[in-house]
Amino acid sequence: MEKSIAVLTSGGDAPGMNAAIRAVVRVGLAEGFFTTVYGVMRGLEGLINDDFVPLTLRSVSNIIQRGGTIIRTARSEAFMTPEGRQKAADNLVKRGVTGLVGIGGDGTFHGLVELGKIWSGQIIGVPGTIDNDLYGSDLTIGFETAVNTALDAIDRLRDTADSHDRFFLVEVMGRWAGYLALQVAIAGGAEHVILPEFDSGVEEIARSLEAGRAQGKQSGIVIVSERGKEGAVYEIAQALEKSGHCKYRVTVLGHIQRGGSPCSRDRVLATKLGAYSIKALRDGMTGVMAGEMSGKLVCVPLEETWTRKKDKPLDDFLIQILPALAR
Ligand code: F6P
Repeated sequence: MEKSIAVLTSGGDAPGMNAAIRAVVRVGLAEGFFTTVYGVMRGLEGLINDDFVPLTLRSVSNIIQRGGTIIRTARSEAFMTPEGRQKAADNLVKRGVTGLVGIGGDGTFHGLVELGKIWSGQIIGVPGTIDNDLYGSDLTIGFETAVNTALDAIDRLRDTADSHDRFFLVEVMGRWAGYLALQVAIAGGAEHVILPEFDSGVEEIARSLEAGRAQGKQSGIVIVSERGKEGAVYEIAQALEKSGHCKYRVTVLGHIQRGGSPCSRDRVLATKLGAYSIKALRDGMTGVMAGEMSGKLVCVPLEETWTRKKDKPLDDFLIQILPALAR
């Protein structure tokens, strides 16, 4: 009997998405339990536009090492409307799809939950975002690679900061979560970090850098989390300058953090969770995200991924020791 499923990537791309697609296709087609795996082009948008391509064992060859997503991604405004979602559901029914794997972040999962209200097929989420801001998986696919990419840039900035005796404010992504910023700050030996979870005023940043100067530091790096808006760091730089502190050079790392070949940890996590999403479909589950918590594969309701606080919140210990490390 024909049994078709579909996979899509939606929202911001994350390194490792291709590895997850590969696992969904290869494990999905193993043993003939599912006969067709469709790739939906450009995420939720492709569901509305009926943009489906059959993925074979060979279409996912040679992609485990590639960044981005071979089935593209998008942020769909049309999916936010009831009409758009109805079109998407009708297309899934028309194609005889009974299960959908959606790889993305909380925006994607919000969309999938709405779809689940009007479509009777099974829906499984897979956490793919560099922000690491989802409950239900200690790490999300792409986070580790993004940290390493940012670190590589910061190591380079240190060379020029040091040569010129300069201080840099470096903005990293993460939307409203400081996981990326904190990890990068500790691993990059930053002098200070500004996290969206805490209100740190200009005076606090200046105080911490003055403390470094008093210890003979002539250059340094402050990691600034974007706080949901690319370029927010410029306001901080201006405020520092206005209040009479030294001039800071600003670097916004931006989308560079989303590209590149996934690190081994992301490839393995993506492979595990992609494969586990197929197990979840075979077990009859729906409306859940496949994740890994404390070394165990788990399925958590999609709504909980954004309503519940992560079990491993920002590491308080790292936040506490940073000032001492930065001396
Ligand atoms: O959610 C991933 C992310 O890269 C965030 O860190 C960032 O705020 C946002 O996406 C940027 O989105 P866009 O690619 O739409 O500019």
